[in-house]
Amino acid sequence: MKPHAHTLDVIKLNIALPNGRRLLRDVSLTLEPGEVRALVGESGAGKSMIGKSVLGILPPNVTITEGEILLEGQHLNMMTPATRRKTVAQSAALIPQDPLTALNPVRKIGPQIVDPLVRILGWSRSDAVARALDLLDRVHIRDPKRVMGSYPHELSGGMRQRVLIAAAFAPSPRLIVADEPTTALDVTVQKQILRLIRELQQETGTAVLFVTHDMGVVAKISQKVTVLFAGKVMEDAPTREVFTNPRHPYTRALIAATPSYADLDRPFSPVPAALIKDLHARIAQDDMLYTGGRR
Ligand SMILES: Nc1ncnc2c1ncn2[C@@H]1O[C@H](COP(=O)(O)OP(=O)(O)OP(=O)(O)O)[C@@H](O)[C@H]1O
Ligand SMILES: [Mg+2]
Repeated sequence: MKPHAHTLDVIKLNIALPNGRRLLRDVSLTLEPGEVRALVGESGAGKSMIGKSVLGILPPNVTITEGEILLEGQHLNMMTPATRRKTVAQSAALIPQDPLTALNPVRKIGPQIVDPLVRILGWSRSDAVARALDLLDRVHIRDPKRVMGSYPHELSGGMRQRVLIAAAFAPSPRLIVADEPTTALDVTVQKQILRLIRELQQETGTAVLFVTHDMGVVAKISQKVTVLFAGKVMEDAPTREVFTNPRHPYTRALIAATPSYADLDRPFSPVPAALIKDLHARIAQDDMLYTGGRR
């Protein structure tokens, strides 16, 4: 494989439903090796759709209508589904939002980490078991052997998310998509899980696309930010710049809507309805031009 500067390139990605409704509009973003990019926006903005496009797990009714996705320089859209699956499995992994639905309730934890390594990546079973035990230890699970033999319901939500983090890091991926990995957990556990992901990320140098709706999390975990609204990139900048000098009014509104730890007395301000309306109107105009050029 030829060396490539970027771990991920998403280039002018457009995805849509069969009725023509656009879910992503010319989305571009890059991830360099070892970089953490936050993907932030409100519910329904299309954050998960970007992650799913990259990992090749879009719902069946959603199609890529235009654009390119390159994983370590390899064009994913030009591959056969089987090659694509293997390529993605070798380079990328997902930390999902809901640790309960992501685990099979009737199978023990061990095989759920070990089997993909054996079946998809062709590892020997003993190597895969050793790797699973090592990773469970690194996510600070006290008795990895016992946990391997447990069922998901025997573990707490935080433990289950640790297991999924271990599973994601096990194949040494160069890219991890973390899709709101702390949203389903309670607040104290959220902080531990965030710290753990950051720790493993720094240790392994894996690039992470970190999906969140929380600007506070963005500040803690990322070096770069992509701000998404209605499937369109509003702003793409280094995290520091986004907080010190946000360019787009929507980014400013998101920051203003984030309760600050330093400033708890400040009134909570949601994104103004007039701004949302204005942005939707502009996007509707863009969509007319977009489809007008084609039909
Ligand atoms: N299976 C599906 N079929 C059709 N439309 C879908 C499907 N899943 C999601 N959508 C729509 O696609 C858009 C983007 O959804 P997506 O799940 O990417 O949002 P999100 O930014 O991840 O939001 P959240 O923060 O709630 O997870 C939304 O308008 C949603 O209604
Ligand atoms: Mg989502």
